[in-house]
Formats: sequence, structure tokens, C-alpha cells
Amino acid sequence: MEASPNFSGLPAAPLRGRRSSALTGRCRPPGDKSVSHRSLILGTLAVGETMIEGLLEGDDVLRTAQACRQLGARITRRSLGAWSVAGPGLGSLLQPRETLDFGNAGTGARLMMGVVGGHPITARFDGDASLRRRPMRRILEPLALQGARVLEQADGGRLPIVLQGCSEPLPIEYRTPVASAQIKSALLLGGLNSLGRTVVIETEASRDHTEKMLLRFGARVVSEPFGEHGRKITLEGRPELRADVVRVPADPSSAAFPLVAALITPGSEIVIEGVMTNPLRSGLLTTLLEMGANITLANRRDDGGEEVADIYVRTSGSDRLVGVDVPAARASSMIDEYPILAAAAAFAHGETRMRGLSELRVKESDRLAAIAAGLRVNGVDCAIEGDDLIVCGGAGKVAGGGFVKTHLDHRIAMSFLVMGLAAEQDVTVDDQTMIATSFPTFRPLMEGLGARFASPP
Ligand code: S3P
Repeated sequence: MEASPNFSGLPAAPLRGRRSSALTGRCRPPGDKSVSHRSLILGTLAVGETMIEGLLEGDDVLRTAQACRQLGARITRRSLGAWSVAGPGLGSLLQPRETLDFGNAGTGARLMMGVVGGHPITARFDGDASLRRRPMRRILEPLALQGARVLEQADGGRLPIVLQGCSEPLPIEYRTPVASAQIKSALLLGGLNSLGRTVVIETEASRDHTEKMLLRFGARVVSEPFGEHGRKITLEGRPELRADVVRVPADPSSAAFPLVAALITPGSEIVIEGVMTNPLRSGLLTTLLEMGANITLANRRDDGGEEVADIYVRTSGSDRLVGVDVPAARASSMIDEYPILAAAAAFAHGETRMRGLSELRVKESDRLAAIAAGLRVNGVDCAIEGDDLIVCGGAGKVAGGGFVKTHLDHRIAMSFLVMGLAAEQDVTVDDQTMIATSFPTFRPLMEGLGARFASPP
């Protein structure tokens, strides 16, 4: 069988997660992907030299760095994770000569559409097969209200897209139709160059890294509660953005993999260091604690404007994880963690119902379908009811033995590899290469804790 091309056009490389003995030791996952993208973008829009420590050197973030260079930024890698970004500053971006190619990176593409939309330049955006399938209208429509124009687009508002920005974006008030930090951030970045105020209202609060970082760089931005779970964010246009030092904490969405691996692999005891615990990213921790997981947060501190902690994890035994009902209102604080939660739920006692997952259908893959298919080929009973996923736990036992289709989705790949560490039979994923988009050190980090992987013959 010929391997299909992966995200970078290379042949796919399958990998197996193998039954492992107790995981032990300490690890530090790479820098947070969301914060990494934003540090490069704000560094590009600021005056002066921004120093970044702990930048995630994954393909997604490197694509954003390349796009920033195409818009005129001088970006230098000084040592592992230590990068500097110099200008050109808000209002002074250059017209890019080549396509901005974001590979697999939805966040990079969408946030940069906001940046381009608020400048008098025209840029062509493109990405890999996964990114070309993802909806962009949700970004293009509000950017059009600010004054940007879509000159070309593929079917249904998809990449490749040619976007013409404007020199004076209109001040608008916009209510996001779904909880999405990407929509919110694109609008705020677009509104930076406006002469007036940009207001974004979200009825479910999404991750707030853009607002926090804008504040640190000197913008006037106010975030107020709105309704029961929402926020209203007001940004004053034309701030003087000043370069800053950004320390990128460890990514909770990557920490989720060793965390769940230790919970389901009997006898494990690990520490995950320096993980961001921003409440808008902590839904997985809340859910796992409700399931009875043995997790303790220690050494809580502030690191570069974000809350962080060291996470101590011990196997509960997996026989003690219990199924729970995860409310829809929690979805935005754990949107990227459902694939790995599904792996944990497969080992739990009883049923886990995850509610309100419609947004999972438009991630790097249709994650709802990919999770369900992956569970089924590994002997786990599950069902999709409307936008809910129901997983029937095997009370500590999962058959495994399945071949999982990843659909170019890094989190599907990592979640099922983790499942393989504790399943009766190996779990094989059809491709591992796209793991490099968000967690290039996944395999050595996990192997350092005792996880076993093998390439199929
Ligand atoms: C992200 C926001 C989320 C998340 C993505 C990163 C961000 O997407 O799934 O991985 O950095 O803003 P949505 O805002 O579209 O939910």
C-alpha cells in the first residue's frame, strides 16, 4: 500500500504505541502554541526588539515566523527557544511578495488574516490539505465589516484566499457566533490600526492570551464579564505597541498527553513542570479531577503574565477513574483536549458524556468523527448523539490492536499513541509526522518517562 502524503508532502510514517510499564520522572513540555504565535505577531507589530524565551519550535509556529518575516519583521533564533523579533511596527508592514503558507496552522492563518486586514497590503494565504478544508468565512465576514476585501477564495470561503487589507479599519462592535479565540484575536489584531474602538463580545469566554499580551505591549484593552460565561473586550485603536520580553510557559494542551498517559499506565508517578494553568485553558484538569484522577498542582506562580504550576500525577489506578458528564459550557476551556480525554474515558469505569462538541468538527480534522472511529477500531464502545460524544469506559481495560486514521491531525495521533501505552494490544496510527506541528519532542519526552513506541515493520 502506498503511503499518502503528509502535511509537508512527505510520505506518511506510521507509529505504534506499545504497552508500557510504569511511567516515572519529570518532564517539561514545549512552549504554549497559542502564546508562541502571538509573541511573534505582536513582536512584528511593536516598535523595538521583542525577546522571546521558550518559543515552541513546532512547524505551526515556524510558519507564523516565516509569514512575519514576509511582512517585514527581522526574526532571529538565538538559541533553543530563544528568539528575537524586530518591527517593522503597526502600520508599517510590507507587501508580501510570495504566498503566506501556513501549513497545518489554523491559528497562524486566522490571526494573520486579522493583521493583514488592518493594513493597506494584499496577501495570498494558503495551507496544507487539512487547513484548506477548514472554514475561513467566520474570520473573513467580520474582517469585511472592518473594511478588508476578499479578492479570491476557494469554495465556501476556504484557502487559498487573497485578502486585501485597508489603511483605516472601521471601528466595529462584533458578537462572535461561536466561542473562538481565533475569531476574537483576528478582529482585535485587525482593529489595532483603527482610529476608533473595536469591541468583541463573546457569550462563552475563549482563551485570553491576545488581550493579555496586547496589554503587556502597551495597548489599551479592557475585558469585562458579559452575561453568565461571556466577555466583552474593548480595544482602543492605534496604540503605541512597545517591544517586550515574552516568557512562554509550557503548553497545557501538550502536557495533556503525558498527564493522561500517567493516569492510565499502572504504577506511574510523574511531574510535569511549568505548565500554564490559565483558567480558560484548564477544563481538562477540572474534568480529570472530577473523574477521580490523582493530580496535584504545586509551586503555583506567575510566569511572564500567565499562571503556571508543576503538575504531580499518579495513576489513580486506572480502575479508579470514573465516567463523568462534561458540560457544554466547559468546551471552550478544553477544546483541544477532547481527543485525549476520550482516551482517558476509554479506561474509566462507566460512561463519559462530552456535551456540545460541534466545534470539534472543524478542527485539524473532523475530530468528533476521528475520535469515534479511533475508539471503535480499538474495541471501545462509543456513540455520537447530536453534538455529544459518549464513551463507554472499559474499567481499566481497552483491547487496542486498531489502526487509527489521523487525517493529518496531530492531536488524534498523540491521543491514540497514548492509548496504546496501556491497551492490551499495540495501537497504530497511520502517520506521526504532523506531530511536529505542535509537539516536536513528543516521542523523546514520552520515551524519557518510559513510554514505548515502535515503527511498524
Ligand atoms: C486557538 C484557539 C482555538 C484552539 C486552537 C488555538 C488560539 O481555536 O482550538 O488550537 O490560539 O487562539 P478556536 O478559537 O477556533 O476554537
